[in-house]
Amino acid sequence: MTDPDLTTQYLGLTLRNPIVASASPANADVNHLIALEAAGIGAVVLPSLFEEQIENDLLMMDDLGFGGPLSAEAVAGYRPNLDAYNTGPSDYLTLVESAVEHLDVPVIASLNGISTGGWTSFAEQIEDGGADALELNIYLVAANSNETGQDIEDRYLRLVEEVRATVSIPLAVKLGPYFSSPANMAKRLADAGADGLVLFNRFYQPDIDLDTLTVTPNLVLSNPAEMRLVLRWMALLHGRIDASLAATTGVHQAEDAVKLILAGADVVMITSALLQHGADYTTTIIDGVRQWFAHHEYTSLDQGRGSLSQQNSLDPSAFERANYTETIASYVARHTT
Ligand SMILES: Cc1cc2nc3c(=O)[nH]c(=O)nc-3n(C[C@H](O)[C@H](O)[C@H](O)COP(=O)(O)O)c2cc1C
Repeated sequence: MTDPDLTTQYLGLTLRNPIVASASPANADVNHLIALEAAGIGAVVLPSLFEEQIENDLLMMDDLGFGGPLSAEAVAGYRPNLDAYNTGPSDYLTLVESAVEHLDVPVIASLNGISTGGWTSFAEQIEDGGADALELNIYLVAANSNETGQDIEDRYLRLVEEVRATVSIPLAVKLGPYFSSPANMAKRLADAGADGLVLFNRFYQPDIDLDTLTVTPNLVLSNPAEMRLVLRWMALLHGRIDASLAATTGVHQAEDAVKLILAGADVVMITSALLQHGADYTTTIIDGVRQWFAHHEYTSLDQGRGSLSQQNSLDPSAFERANYTETIASYVARHTT
């Protein structure tokens, strides 16, 4: 068995392997990033800096007489406290610079927001801080009944165009799956300047505390079954979108990563598994991926990447409606005999 070449292209960057540590609070600690690199990680994504935090800073500057174009949300006075998550824009730049200084693997910074406006200019400072790429997380809950699907899609596209115009480093867009036509949206995001798409955001659903009768945030880490949604869209989009594809959500074992690569993912991201098992778990995942490809006699990951995508599949219908009908039929067959 020869060792397969794990080298991976993502956003025009060369990674030593396709396993990437996705944005998480643990990645705000440079010692943790160094441990991830020592364990073999292909690239790291820093935790997000949020639009609201940048707007807060801009508002404070505005109070001091330095103006800047602010988003409607900022002007309306929506100022959540995110200090528990990170300590704001200036410390974020210190983190970017420190990560770049200490790591050889690519460092991807992350901005998280939904509006066009002054806050996006911070992308430029991230680029100046030396980040190898920028991930823009658009985490939008489309709850306004007066906003149409078209309006929402336009918001995404304008935001991507704005950030794209601000930086020259590669730009990835992380988004959720809830579009009328995800494939069309993916194509238009690439046309708007996204060099890569990160599929998909996990939407944290609020809970209700029956003792206090309040709505409470309640973050539950992912489980492997959640990977299936990503798997389907990787397979459907591979080879059809002019952008890199990153998979995020539900990757807990090497086999999950292998499936996503065969479906067409350029890179596979992990957070929950690293939070549960620590930075060294990276080695377990990478060794497992290497062994699977070696055992199946691939000389490189590129050789297998996308081989089970819809485009290359012997059964393209398996990723569409036929999968639904076959799945429920097979359940009934298994449970009624
Ligand atoms: C505690 C926690 C904090 C996170 N913070 C961010 C963040 O700042 N920005 C971001 O884009 N994603 C964030 N994520 C999402 C992860 O990057 C990842 O996309 C998600 O957890 C799904 O991957 P997983 O199943 O491997 O956990 C966070 C996830 C967790 C669990």
